[in-house]
Amino acid sequence: MVDLVVLCMVVLPFLAVTGSASVLEDLDTVSSEVVDLNSNFAKHGKVAAAWWAGWHPDLLPLDKVSWKKYTHMTYAFAETTPSVDELSISGGEELLAKFVSAAKKHKVKALISIGGWTGSRFFSTAVGSAANRTAFVKTITNLVKKHKLDGIDFDWEYPNHPGIGCNTISKQDTPNFLSFLRELRAHHIGRRLILTAAAPITPWPDPNDEPSDISPFAKLLDYIAIMNYDLWGSWSPAVGPNAPLNDTCAPPQYQQGSAVSAVQAWTSAGLPRNQFVLGVGAYGHSFLVANSVALTDQGTITAYPQFEPKQPRGDSSDSGSGVDVCGAAGGWGGIGWGGTFNFWGLVEGKFLDEKGQPLQGIHYRYDECSQTPYVYNHTSQVMVSFDDAKSFKAKGEFIKNYGLRGYAMWEAASDHNDILIDSIRKGGGY
Ligand SMILES: *[C@@H]1O[C@H](CO)[C@@H](O)[C@H](O)[C@H]1NC(C)=O
Ligand SMILES: *[C@@H]1O[C@H](CO)[C@@H](O)[C@H](O)[C@H]1NC(C)=O
Ligand SMILES: *[C@@H]1O[C@H](CO)[C@@H](O)[C@H](O)[C@H]1NC(C)=O
Repeated sequence: MVDLVVLCMVVLPFLAVTGSASVLEDLDTVSSEVVDLNSNFAKHGKVAAAWWAGWHPDLLPLDKVSWKKYTHMTYAFAETTPSVDELSISGGEELLAKFVSAAKKHKVKALISIGGWTGSRFFSTAVGSAANRTAFVKTITNLVKKHKLDGIDFDWEYPNHPGIGCNTISKQDTPNFLSFLRELRAHHIGRRLILTAAAPITPWPDPNDEPSDISPFAKLLDYIAIMNYDLWGSWSPAVGPNAPLNDTCAPPQYQQGSAVSAVQAWTSAGLPRNQFVLGVGAYGHSFLVANSVALTDQGTITAYPQFEPKQPRGDSSDSGSGVDVCGAAGGWGGIGWGGTFNFWGLVEGKFLDEKGQPLQGIHYRYDECSQTPYVYNHTSQVMVSFDDAKSFKAKGEFIKNYGLRGYAMWEAASDHNDILIDSIRKGGGY
């Protein structure tokens, strides 16, 4: 009963904003949905997933993964190549084999993610013709057979949108992707796989660049992880939240999407809530911000301050970005450093203590709208927008209250002593 009240309180204003039907009808929808969602949770169970990156296995060795806190672990990445007959495995196939056996030993589903930021370049052509789709199904099912994988994640960044810049691209990407998934599901190996996708906060575009009907995808995919992060960074006009839970409460010019807007957009496009997995980021983006604009007279962090064009270095895993696969210099926004701080990197960089709380002398602000924190060191003038235990707990509660399927974290190696993962699990009632 308590949960029902909370759910109605949270969902009703949300439905009122989307305003499709009368409030009374919405009430009916909400209360009947609660029953369905509960039985669905009982039937399918909640998803607790993360990506494990094959290109820096030493950041979190396989025997250090908190396996019992996960249901699914996804190896990143199998990159698309100019040939539809080949995928390129980051870290190599030997590492993938070790990953699969470690996951299986702990009864965690072992998936591999195809694509990623640099690995999506040849997605469009891989599904671009009937012959290629058949060949791509064969490439994937061969990989599944060889490594006894439980499932495949499709992290195409992005259908009918450029992504890194030199991706192959077609207006037909989304319909071609659907045809491809149908063919994969019809295959005797594809039929029994867990199939998931990682997708942006707005639904995949149709050939006219309008949101596609997602309901046929929902019949083929087990769930879609919505990547609700990297919403603000060095490419943005001001310092904003990396992973906002909400933005409808922000000033209009700062409403750039959030978990709330993503649920609204994807569910109205036909994705059932119990197939919506919230993608969460265990890291933050840094900005160089002068004291005069970063802080109020009282010494609190200002909202949406302007930042300097120089990208600060992130944590010790930030090795800078050279020329990317498209030949473009310098990573995010063409600036030398990546500027990313993993959650552990904020401890290393002396913003946070071992418990993940701000250290003495560090300015901290928790934005009640985005429900995410900021830290600022006034000596180095580095500001970081990130997620902490409080914001991860809020995201967990959101997943529970909205009847979402669960969470998928980028990336397994970013946490510090499981502070974030424990927090989202607590909030989500895992
Ligand atoms: C089919 O795949 C090949 C690469 O294996 C690619 O060169 C070709 O352009 C693709 N065809 C289409 C129509 O995308
Ligand atoms: C998002 O913000 C709106 C507008 O302020 C508010 O009504 C709603 O409850 C918020 N939702 C969440 C999940 O915080
Ligand atoms: C802030 O940054 C400076 C310069 O990098 C560093 O010496 C200091 O320890 C950091 N922390 C605080 C609280 O000033």
